[in-house]
Amino acid sequence: MEIISKIADLQARIQKFKADGKKVGFVPTMGALHAGHASLVNRCVSENDYCVVSVFVNPTQFNDKNDLQHYPRTPEADCALLEKAGCSIMFMPTVDEMYPEEDTRIFDLGSVAEVMEGRYRPGHFNGVAQIVSKLFAAVMPHRAYFGEKDFQQIAVIREMTRQLQFPIEIVSCPIVREADGMALSSRNTRLSTSQRKNAVNISQTLFKSRTFAEQHTVTETIAYVTDTLNTIEDLQVEYFEIVDGNSLQAVASWDDATYIVGCITVYCGEVRLIDNITYKV
Ligand code: PAJ
Repeated sequence: MEIISKIADLQARIQKFKADGKKVGFVPTMGALHAGHASLVNRCVSENDYCVVSVFVNPTQFNDKNDLQHYPRTPEADCALLEKAGCSIMFMPTVDEMYPEEDTRIFDLGSVAEVMEGRYRPGHFNGVAQIVSKLFAAVMPHRAYFGEKDFQQIAVIREMTRQLQFPIEIVSCPIVREADGMALSSRNTRLSTSQRKNAVNISQTLFKSRTFAEQHTVTETIAYVTDTLNTIEDLQVEYFEIVDGNSLQAVASWDDATYIVGCITVYCGEVRLIDNITYKV
């Protein structure tokens, strides 16, 4: 595996791969890699001739400075994980390399970006679009891999890719969970032992809500999940919405769409955790 920190070096290397007619896959990450990221990398390695992984904590997508400051950074462990997974290039640029000047672009990503995370984390998706568009332009892969853990992010990336006409196939990959059901996240390392014990209720309540939903309305299911979690110590639901899995707009009834997903954000102490569950495909 090569470790590259300059865009020009990355482009030169990838140009060589492409000149040989090889397929290039790309996995953008912010590091502190875990088995969730590894599942994306494994799929990328298996479906392409070369796999490029970026590790870059993107400052423009953090609307909370405290969150940026506490974001875990584990470059040596990341490098070992990527090497083992068969990654070809680890791209680890500095902030100055990605942002030699301030990125003032404002994206209009439409209704998929306005709801949920868009409402509660203003500017977040604009920052994601800024960095992913820069990374796409630098790597210009055939395929790019994203996790369904960040369900709304995939819709936003698809919209950005469409608008900017990048000839890149966006591949979505299932959520990887711990044995107890908790979705893997780099932020889980910030939870205390007791917070981690309480946090497992997020995924477990989502799983239970699937059975609950068979006998109840959308509104009742939202209340069930929200009320259950808010009674648990350390947990505070920021939002739980049941949406059309394509448009991301809230549904009023189970008959409103053929693909229905429940998306949740919960604060566990100071740590903001997200998860989601499919009710209908
Ligand atoms: P990051 O949070 O590091 O996640 C990188 C990718 O890994 C995302 O596509 C995310 O959905 C996926 N991922 C994280 N946890 C996962 C899990 N438990 N199961 C499956 N996939 C999982 O998302 C970002 O970084 C950034 O916003 C980025 C796209 C890199 C732009 O900065």
